[in-house]
Amino acid sequence: MHRRITGKLVIATHNPGKLAEMRELLAPYGIEAVSAGELGLGEPEETGADFRANARIKAVAAARSAKIPAFADDSGLVVDALDGAPGIHSARWAGKPADFSAAMARIERLLQERGATTPEKRRAHFVSALCVAWPDDHLEEVEARVDGTLVWPPRGTAGFGYDPTFLPDGHARTFGEMTSIEKHGLPPLGLGLSHRARAFVKLAEIALDRR
Ligand code: IMP
Repeated sequence: MHRRITGKLVIATHNPGKLAEMRELLAPYGIEAVSAGELGLGEPEETGADFRANARIKAVAAARSAKIPAFADDSGLVVDALDGAPGIHSARWAGKPADFSAAMARIERLLQERGATTPEKRRAHFVSALCVAWPDDHLEEVEARVDGTLVWPPRGTAGFGYDPTFLPDGHARTFGEMTSIEKHGLPPLGLGLSHRARAFVKLAEIALDRR
């Protein structure tokens, strides 16, 4: 049985960008979102083998500490010709402080080394895993992806991370050339295009009531 999310929800992130995006997505459902940072919760180590496992680790840790339901996401870029890399290591590939120009160049170098020069050989997808955990360990989990190809050189300055190299299927512009509404916006405003937007739609279907 699915459980509905109501009332107050901890957003298990210390990233202000993600927090703002999640607050915006949850607002139409009358959910009051507080961040793990605001509650002074720690950040668990992401030791999972896949996106779903890492989202679950973050949500369960926050729900147990805060004693109210918690929401977490994990996401990344999966490149077919690189056997799925950078995958769950997408953020780590950029280093600290994050340098995504270098991370995109590293991917391009590896693609060239493997002779991946045609669009068919440059297939990639973004994945978003979302998890809501309750203090009694009930879980609601969803996952979604958006497929595309990697272009070089990077195009556009919008978005973040690997956006400028990612050309979603059926579109002529990279995520880096799209507005945030085009990339993440939900219908009727946007296309529900991104992995996160698609995962959120799935979560809303099973666990959220529009106010
Ligand atoms: P997380 O905070 O562990 O989920 O890290 C996800 C990482 O994957 C980010 O730092 C980005 O490098 C990459 N990523 C995830 N979603 C996107 C996206 O929509 N555009 C570009 N890069 C993304």
